[in-house]
Amino acid sequence: MKSVLITGANRGIGLAFATAYLQRGWKVYAACRDMGRVGELLELGGNVEVVPLDVTSMEEIEALAGMLKGKPLDVLINNAAVHGPRDATGTFGNIDPEAWMEVFRVNTIGPVKVTEALLPNVLMGGDRKLVFISSMAGSISMRGSQPHHRTGGPYIYRTSKAALNAAVKAIGYDLQDKGVSVVTLHPGWVKTETGGWDAPGEPSDSVAAMMPLIDAATPEGNGVFLNVDGSVIGW
Ligand SMILES: NC(=O)c1ccc[n+]([C@@H]2O[C@H](COP(=O)([O-])OP(=O)(O)OC[C@H]3O[C@@H](n4cnc5c(N)ncnc54)[C@H](OP(=O)(O)O)[C@@H]3O)[C@@H](O)[C@H]2O)c1
Repeated sequence: MKSVLITGANRGIGLAFATAYLQRGWKVYAACRDMGRVGELLELGGNVEVVPLDVTSMEEIEALAGMLKGKPLDVLINNAAVHGPRDATGTFGNIDPEAWMEVFRVNTIGPVKVTEALLPNVLMGGDRKLVFISSMAGSISMRGSQPHHRTGGPYIYRTSKAALNAAVKAIGYDLQDKGVSVVTLHPGWVKTETGGWDAPGEPSDSVAAMMPLIDAATPEGNGVFLNVDGSVIGW
């Protein structure tokens, strides 16, 4: 039976990934930072195992790696993230350095450390796929490319995803000769706490569009940043 581990699996896009992989008959490791907020996951039934993981906790990352030692993972989906401040403290002129560091811990350092810790499991898996849910907001080349991209916007979120992208592109090259596919995806603008409730898309539609991109990924394709519709986004 194939297996996937999803971070931030208790709600939003992570919950939609868990639902979709369970429907496929996969074993799902649903990693959640707050074991008191996993009710919707447990209602899914099927082969889901909820495991504790705050991606900023090196102790919890180590404990998870210990718990999964010797167990293959076909796909690892680094999905968990936070948006950070939406008020002036996230924009130029007022940036809160502590908030900036915290968002970096979750969105940038966390996914890389989770990947380092679980790489042995992914190397044991048949599919060998590492997925990073990033954001178009982190694209440097898109800034200024269209009129509505000529605003600074949320510096903290943007830089955390741009830094994640830089790390992920490097990981793609480091692991190519080990047969690992590294997939960096923008999920579209989706109704969640991070996306906001005015967003046009549903998490389930976003996941339904991303899964074929994950299925189709090969190590030769590493180093590319993909939109939910399969088009390439400039880094
Ligand atoms: N929605 C969009 O429009 C959109 C657009 C572009 C990119 N994205 C990206 O898509 C991914 C999923 O976001 P979403 O929209 O589904 O957001 P969401 O509904 O706000 O969910 C975020 C998830 O991340 C978890 N999380 C936050 N901090 C964590 C930590 N320290 N350790 C472990 N888990 C943590 C949350 O857990 P708790 O419930 O415990 O807080 C929650 O499960 C993110 O990478 C986001 O940046 C989303």
